[in-house]
Amino acid sequence: MNELDALVDSARASFEQAATPADLENAKAQFLGKSGRLTELMKGMAALSVDEKKTRGAAINLAKQAIEAALNARRQALADAELQAQLKAEALDVTLPGRQRGQGGLHPVSLTLERIEQIFGSMGFDVAQGPEIETDWFNFTALNTPEDHPARSMHDTFYVEGGSASAPNLLRTHTSPMQIRHAVQHVKRHRDRLDAGQGMPEIRVIAPGRTYRVDSDATHSPMFHQCEGLWIGENVSFKDLKVVFTDFCRTFFESDDLVLRFRPSFFPFTEPSAEIDIQFQTGPLAGRWLEVAGSGQVHPHVVRNMGLDPEHFIGFAFGMGPDRLTMLRYGVNDLRLFFDGDIRFLSQFQ
Ligand code: DAH
Repeated sequence: MNELDALVDSARASFEQAATPADLENAKAQFLGKSGRLTELMKGMAALSVDEKKTRGAAINLAKQAIEAALNARRQALADAELQAQLKAEALDVTLPGRQRGQGGLHPVSLTLERIEQIFGSMGFDVAQGPEIETDWFNFTALNTPEDHPARSMHDTFYVEGGSASAPNLLRTHTSPMQIRHAVQHVKRHRDRLDAGQGMPEIRVIAPGRTYRVDSDATHSPMFHQCEGLWIGENVSFKDLKVVFTDFCRTFFESDDLVLRFRPSFFPFTEPSAEIDIQFQTGPLAGRWLEVAGSGQVHPHVVRNMGLDPEHFIGFAFGMGPDRLTMLRYGVNDLRLFFDGDIRFLSQFQ
């Protein structure tokens, strides 16, 4: 084997051994670089005769081409290998199950609130919303709740900064303040008509929302929901309350034979007052009286605080617990489940 063939073989072998592109460039320098072995051979040609230069030059050129071909082949092989490794590392297993994006849904209490709004909406009630931080006036005083009423005890709710020392602001203990807030707005809007003795459109509103009390067990949570109802006009009676609320309960529970009982009770803002109990005729709760709301004819003091003359305007109010309605509707026996945020529980309602 002549010297050039040996050189080409040796270049091929050393390119073959190069495991990375960097190794390969080093190997290339040994043969084709400025002081590489092939370059050295070419320099040696200076001393040859013209004829010798021709044959020797042609042979060296062939060797050079062979070395370059080997180099390019190895470059390509290394690039292919690198690509293969990368593809393997980033391999996508299309047979794996897809990552599911859980479908969100409404909280069971929200479902109840939507249902309440829809049912009362169909009976011509507006929906009003108000602040959860209330003043002493709206939460108590305007609702005919005297200053020594036990509901005002510091232990019964959460007081917050603001207001005055004798009348601090607080987290509302019920949605009843919305009776006043909404009625005052309504009266303001119709002030001119009222002043001209032309009356006003009836107030018919529900006000759902969060309420707060220092209470915590299986059926009480420090934060809970209420929905207030108010219907004020010139000729609204207790009979209307009975009709509206009976209709509501039967629609809400999808039970036409549901029975209601209005049990005499006391609330400072209504007179007379009644607790509303319902009784299912079928199902697991059949035969038991279940309390669902407080209600009554709006007290004249409260009507006056709405900016209306109690000699001309009369009506009823009620306050119910959407959390409890949700428990009854779905057969849930621990209120705390609603607020634990456990997705396994909540997803059952989707
Ligand atoms: N606010 C009362 C409570 O939280 C419930 C209530 C009773 C609301 C009678 C009313 C009503 O509107 O007329 O216990």
